[in-house]
Amino acid sequence: MDHPLLEICGVVKEYPARPAPLRVLDGIDFSLDAGESAAVVGPSGCGKSTLLNLMGTLDHPDSGSVRLLGEDTAVMDARALARLRNERLGFVFQLHHLLPQCTVLENILIPVLPRGRAAREQAQERALALIQRMGLSGRENHRPGELSGGECQRTAVARALINDPALLLADEPTGALNEEAADALAGLLLELRDERHMAVVIVTHARAIARRFGRVCTLNHGRLTREE
Ligand SMILES: Nc1ncnc2c1ncn2[C@@H]1O[C@H](COP(=O)(O)OP(=O)(O)OP(=O)(O)O)[C@@H](O)[C@H]1O
Ligand SMILES: [Mg+2]
Repeated sequence: MDHPLLEICGVVKEYPARPAPLRVLDGIDFSLDAGESAAVVGPSGCGKSTLLNLMGTLDHPDSGSVRLLGEDTAVMDARALARLRNERLGFVFQLHHLLPQCTVLENILIPVLPRGRAAREQAQERALALIQRMGLSGRENHRPGELSGGECQRTAVARALINDPALLLADEPTGALNEEAADALAGLLLELRDERHMAVVIVTHARAIARRFGRVCTLNHGRLTREE
């Protein structure tokens, strides 16, 4: 049966607040097929990171559904969700969340740790290839404190790609980069999308970058609308 890779229907998300709960997402519909990409734009605080977290099952909606790879994530237990996230999803967080005591190479390999021995053995080579591709050659053994902001961001992107995800969720991956470097990283993500038939959702403030990802969706007042 054919189904979208990611399908979100009627998603509502509120955070507790006084005097009334803060309704950040107010009925979101969205779907994405393998090999497709979309950009989410919108003002600071409009709920972009919240939406990405819901897409990646890091948080749950108050109502509505999130389906990934044809499965309703609401009926999956914590173990199944953790496995799905680890093996099929790649996350680039807005604050890159690298482990400060680990080197670039070790950080990239973290998502591989729960996998079997065969996967771990193959991963080293893939990590080195990603390091080269991300322009991090020579930085393998640096710790995040010894990297520039852009290098940290590119390390986080490599980490998100190490398990060859079906869906990459990237929250401002180009935020710490200058225009030229941001353009190059966007180009790389688009290349990987086409090569690996990977789906990509990117959050960005940069309009020019957003447009390169094809579909541009604006999040405002809890609603997601597609720009023509
Ligand atoms: N855990 C939380 N508890 C309460 N309120 C929250 C929580 N997380 C986020 N919010 C609020 O929800 C709104 C949306 O936050 P979110 O981080 O999704 O915005 P964003 O669009 O990613 O913003 P930015 O562009 O600044 O990263 C904000 O007003 C924020 O204050
Ligand atoms: Mg955010």
